[in-house]
Amino acid sequence: MSTIIRGKELAQTLREKTARAVEAYHLKTHKRPGLAVIQVGEDPASTVYVNNKEKACQAAGIRSSVHRLSRDSSQLELMALIEQLNRDESIHGILCQLPLPDQFDAFTATAAIKPEKDVDGFHPLNAGLLFLGREAPVPCTPLGVLAMLKAYKIPIAGQHCVIVGRSNIVGKPMAQLMLRENATVTTAHSRTQNLPELCRQADILIAAVGRARMITADFIKPGATVIDVGVNRCSDGKLAGDVDFESVSTVAGAITPVPGGVGPMTIAMLLQNTLDAFLRIEKLTGEV
Ligand code: GUN
Repeated sequence: MSTIIRGKELAQTLREKTARAVEAYHLKTHKRPGLAVIQVGEDPASTVYVNNKEKACQAAGIRSSVHRLSRDSSQLELMALIEQLNRDESIHGILCQLPLPDQFDAFTATAAIKPEKDVDGFHPLNAGLLFLGREAPVPCTPLGVLAMLKAYKIPIAGQHCVIVGRSNIVGKPMAQLMLRENATVTTAHSRTQNLPELCRQADILIAAVGRARMITADFIKPGATVIDVGVNRCSDGKLAGDVDFESVSTVAGAITPVPGGVGPMTIAMLLQNTLDAFLRIEKLTGEV
């Protein structure tokens, strides 16, 4: 039986650390980080994520506001809202929940967010900085995955990391982060041939495809670390990851569960990115 990488517990520890730092800066400056979350439309999964982000901010002493636009609002209205939040000095972080309804252009929206307020790390400038190996805000889910690997002392340098999925939110930034940590990185996707065989070469396998339980035990090198980024709602209403936990956990050395794995880490990293944006914008040092 493999080690269970308990993201939920680690996320709680990290959230408490961020909350303590927020309180210390508040004592010193009488200011608090402010996060603005934009949701366009009523996608039920996005509503759950946005509500969870708001609750987590409250618990950490971060001011948060949720800005909801109806699904038939226009790109122009969205751009005007982003402009208003860019100018608002009490807002240090801006996040536009994705996916946007079809008539919106997510690239134009994320590129309109001031790069220093981009707590998602999705702005093309920040994505480019990550690609060049420079300091920049990093997307929350890949950052959370890396924090889990480090907390569980999983060796990364020189290890073969296979990432299944090439999204801008997870797969691509994850590959850059793992490269920065000196892993040997392969990115696989829906057109990859011989996927099980390729995955069996991974010391660290990161699944971010969005297909319930598609990674089964035959994809796994014995002892490998398996990180499941998938959150899939099944027909019975239950959540399932991209990894078939039951079979894979008999072969893997370490594995994340769904729920309670990567998901809570994403939120913990958002709070950390918001605190970092606050420190940057208010020109505060990392020491309280
Ligand atoms: N949709 C799914 N994950 C994310 C995320 O990390 N940030 C935003 N803005 N939208 C998402």
